[in-house]
This record gives sequence, structure tokens and C-alpha cells, in this order.
Amino acid sequence: MKIITGFSKLTKIQKMEWVANQFLSDPKKAIEEWKKYWHPDAAQQEILDGFSENTLTNFPMPFGIAPNFVINGRTYAIPMVIEESSVVAAAASAAKTWMERGGFHAEVVSTVKVGQVHFTWEGSIVQLLPFEQLLKQTLRQEAASITERMEARGGGIKEIELLDLTHLEPHYYQLKVTFETCDSMGANFINSVLEQFSKTLLQFFSQQKELQQQPLSIIMAILSNYTPECLVRAWVECPITELEGICPRNDAFSFAQKFHTAVRIAHVDPYRACTHNKGIFNGIDAVVLATGNDFRAVEACGHTHAAQSGQYKSLSYCTLEDGNFKFWLEIPMALGTVGGLTNLHPLARRALEILGNPSAIQLMEIVATVGLAQNFAAIKSLITTGIQQGHMKMHLKNILHHLNARNGEREVTEAYFADKVVSFNEVRNFLESFRTNKHQ
Ligand code: MEV
Repeated sequence: MKIITGFSKLTKIQKMEWVANQFLSDPKKAIEEWKKYWHPDAAQQEILDGFSENTLTNFPMPFGIAPNFVINGRTYAIPMVIEESSVVAAAASAAKTWMERGGFHAEVVSTVKVGQVHFTWEGSIVQLLPFEQLLKQTLRQEAASITERMEARGGGIKEIELLDLTHLEPHYYQLKVTFETCDSMGANFINSVLEQFSKTLLQFFSQQKELQQQPLSIIMAILSNYTPECLVRAWVECPITELEGICPRNDAFSFAQKFHTAVRIAHVDPYRACTHNKGIFNGIDAVVLATGNDFRAVEACGHTHAAQSGQYKSLSYCTLEDGNFKFWLEIPMALGTVGGLTNLHPLARRALEILGNPSAIQLMEIVATVGLAQNFAAIKSLITTGIQQGHMKMHLKNILHHLNARNGEREVTEAYFADKVVSFNEVRNFLESFRTNKHQ
């Protein structure tokens, strides 16, 4: 029996028992294990449970820090939540490299967000246009109680466009709305406004003699996670000569040249672009998650932006001009520092505090910078030592942990594998023979 009705109505213990009994070989052990990850403070656990549904327990992820990020002249220690080894170390290493070369620079180009009401109407745009101004005015009026507080904070609805898209889909029209949501990501605000717009639209059409003859159907009202005008740019630059010493085996010019070519490849080859951008999101997602923001929204937006030309491309750029190395990233992202999880999740709140309680604009700058740093570190490794060296070092640590290696054993094993290929079996064999020899 693996189908269940009313699962959500069970108590947490009943849910755990059902899952454990149905799917696991040792239900008692599994339940004990899940309970160990409960927050010791029941009130805190209740908050965590409330973020989702059917919660059994918590799923811990490492919360790490990449220190020494100099961004626009200010030094940050960046909280990162990520399960992939090497990511935090790589970010920290790029931070150090650029700290010694003027630091990172970042700027937010704009913070405009987008929402849409998609509807079908069997009339023509010619019939609709005379009502456009009145419709927009009515939409704003009817949503006033929702927008009032946001307007007091300096945000609200910016523009409403009525789009005739009947050439793309029969009878398809759209209200495309732009918003300013200040320090909040604004999803709830935008969706509430859009749902009110849907109601107003239905009412408006039913009240106009010239419009009510043709049927109107609201298809959906929802924000768009693609926010091309909510754009942030992060960059580093220095004379190429200052790259000397970054890589012991490469002189500054050949390093810069190879780096430039690697970025170009990610602009012309989508297979490489995908992995290149994945590396950027290693950094971006880790900070977005640590600060309680929506990493799926940020990913979806970034990838849409990467494909805006019709071909999926690198989100970062590199130029070598007039003896200067310039490397930058341009990415749209909608982030918040108030509302949602940012205030509710105790660790997200703490992460924002570590960052000096930034505004949404400052957080966009920080996040884009970490994406750029991650990309720099990945390309630097790829064009010099290859990434396996760093990955294997971290992988070795995990294997040693798994094999319960003690102090002394760890150091000897790490020294032995410094110039060898790491695999679980090889490490286990080495450790076993080391332990046997030690006891002979
Ligand atoms: C691994 O998580 C990320 C990289 O593959 C990124 C890249 O190839 O640029 C190292």
C-alpha cells in the first residue's frame, strides 16, 4: 500500500511512521535519525515547519563563509549555503586575488519587476484602444488599497501596457505591468495586484456596451521571473601585468589570453556556456539561499537572460584592451532583504546581519559579485591546473571523514595523495595498510 489519502492531516509523528514503514528497511532507526535533526526549540521548529508542508524534519546544509570580499571599497564576509565542496574555497580564493587588485565593483542598473495578466478576448484591438486610458485608470484605482503601503515606501505600479498578441495566439491579449518593490522581492505584492487587475478587467469589459458582446476569459495572472530591467553588473579590472603571479605556471599575458578565450568559448558554444553559467550559479545560489531568497527564481531569470539572443550564452564577458584585463558579469535578478523568509528564517536573518543588513540593491551587488568570483576561480583552475586538483583535495577530506580517519591519519593520507589520483577504494586501502603497519 503506497497510496494514501489525507496524508497532510496526519500528525508529524504519524507522517514519519507512515513513510518509514512504507519505504524504509529500518523504520525505527529512520525515525530516530529524523528526530535528531529537529530543532531543540519547539517554537523554532514550528517556524521551520511552516515554510513548507508535510514536513518530517530539517535537511541540514553547510552554512559557510567566504571572507575578504572587497566590493565597492567595502569588505564583506559572505555567507554561503552550498553542499558542493570547493565552491566556498574557490570564492574565498578569488576574493583574495581581487582584494589585492582593487577589489570588485558592482552597480545596479535598474530594479524594475514585471507581472502579466494573460487573457483572451474575441474582439479586435481597434475596438479596445478607445478604452485603453480609462481601463488603465480603473485598474490603478481598484488596486489602490493594495498599492497604498508600497507607494508610501517609494514603490508601486510603474507602467501598465496593453499588448495585442493575437498574431501569436488567437484572441490573446496581455496586460504587461512593471513594478518597483523597494527592498522586498515583491512576489506577493505583485501577484495580489495582478489578481485584482483580473477582477477589474472582467468587470470593466462587462460594463462597456462596446466590449461586452465578445467573450473575455482571464487565462492567468502572475509575475514574470524574467526581469530584464532588474539588472546588476559586477566587474573586476586591472592592467594585464598585474595578473603576474596569479598562476605560477603562466605568465600574466598568456594567462589573460587563455582566460579571454575560455570566456569567448562560452559565448559561442552552448554546451560550454551551460557549465560556465552553472559555475556562476554555484556562487549566486549559495548566497541567495543563505539570505532566504528564491534561488529558483534567480536561476530561471539568469538562464532566460543568457538565452536572450536566441542562443544560450555566457553571462560573463572578458576584454583585453589597451593593456587592461576586464572581466564582468551582467545578470538580472529579483532579490529582497525584507519580507518572506529573509526575516522569518533565523539563519537567513543572521546571514543578512553578517552582510551589514544590506538593501535589496546592495544584496544584488553582493550576489552578482560572488557569481563573478566563482566564475573567475573556475576559469582560472580550468585553464591552468584543471579543477580536479582542488575538487579531489576536498573529496579526500570527505572520504577521510567517512572512513573515520583520526588526527595523524588524515595528515599522512593527505600527504600521500598530494600527487595521486583520489578514489574511495585507493584511500581506504591506503588507510587500512597504514593502520595495519602502525600496529605491527
Ligand atoms: C562545477 O560545479 C562548476 C564548474 O564546472 C564551472 C565551470 O566549468 O566553469 C567548475
